[in-house]
Amino acid sequence: MMPRRDFLSRVWAGLGLAAAAGSGYVGLRFLASQTAEGNFGGVVTAGMVEDFPLNTVTPFPNARFFLVRQDDGGFLALYHKCTHLACTLLWRETDDEFYCPCHGSRFQADGRVHNRPASRSLSCFPVSFEGDTVLVDTGSLIERDQVEPGDIVYPSEAAP
Ligand code: FES
Repeated sequence: MMPRRDFLSRVWAGLGLAAAAGSGYVGLRFLASQTAEGNFGGVVTAGMVEDFPLNTVTPFPNARFFLVRQDDGGFLALYHKCTHLACTLLWRETDDEFYCPCHGSRFQADGRVHNRPASRSLSCFPVSFEGDTVLVDTGSLIERDQVEPGDIVYPSEAAP
């Protein structure tokens, strides 16, 4: 018979794996800041699809967004302002989450609230593709009460 401590260890390990698999954002790597071609308020060119490896978060401070590339190839451009009182967010790689230094709100990599006082998911910008080029329309902010699957967009070869 398995000792109780071993049994509990395995249960916790299993729960951790299940939670990690469910989130879909395990181990996102933070890439160096990039400069987009174009100005905030318009359509900016983030780069080529292959510039953004799977499971990465790339900050574009001048264009005011983070470009998240999921493990399934999908892209999401999140506005870098907290939905509480609009402080600029930081990415905390150790916890795989966005963190607000002002009052401690935390957000998952898809923008949903993980810790208040913020109550709304992070806003995002439409992402589109021109061939293999990733475009982000920073003039069309999408405010979200909750995260929708349609917020993630895929280059044609990566569509699930
Ligand atoms: S502005 Fe982000 S938690 Fe208050």
